[in-house]
Amino acid sequence: MRKIIFVTGNPHKVREASDILSQTGITVEQNNCGYPELQEDNIEAIARFGARWAADKLNCEVMVDDSGLFIEVLGGFPGPYSAYVFDTLGNERILKLMEGETNRSAVFRCVIGYCRPGGDALLFSGEVTGDIAKDIRGSAGFGYDPIFKVEGVTFGEMREEEKNRLSHRYRALMKFARWLKEGQ
Ligand code: IMP
Repeated sequence: MRKIIFVTGNPHKVREASDILSQTGITVEQNNCGYPELQEDNIEAIARFGARWAADKLNCEVMVDDSGLFIEVLGGFPGPYSAYVFDTLGNERILKLMEGETNRSAVFRCVIGYCRPGGDALLFSGEVTGDIAKDIRGSAGFGYDPIFKVEGVTFGEMREEEKNRLSHRYRALMKFARWLKEGQ
């Protein structure tokens, strides 16, 4: 089993990554050392910086995950500001912003950043297209899960295994696992 240090403060991300990567013979171990979250307008830059910073700080290979929800009719908001907006507005007020909107399309994106000490980060991204629900549905998962629907069902209503078969994180992690398996 290959073990990768996953630098994040989010236990839900660790659990999902462990479940997804365990099928490919990779285990993850959480490290909560934190890294400065750049206020950048793209999640790739945030993941790249975080992975480099953490690899150098811990002096070992690491992975980080930066994700964001991009709502089409809001011009991609909250996108790279998803964590801040979730903490300040939360799901109820996002739904208020969306009241009366017929275009409810949204994309969830995940970027996995991987880096070795002194090296440059490599990025693996995944996305899933869906819709913003009209109300909060389901209590599974975390963050925006109860308002993000794929084929009519919110992530909050899905069993963990279902979300982990089609999520943005699953898609990014599968690319990462494939690259690791190619002999890195
Ligand atoms: P970050 O990647 O930790 O910056 O996450 C951005 C925001 O999106 C946070 O509020 C997370 O809770 C939320 N988030 C990240 N991934 C997911 C997910 O898979 N489902 C729902 N919310 C998520």
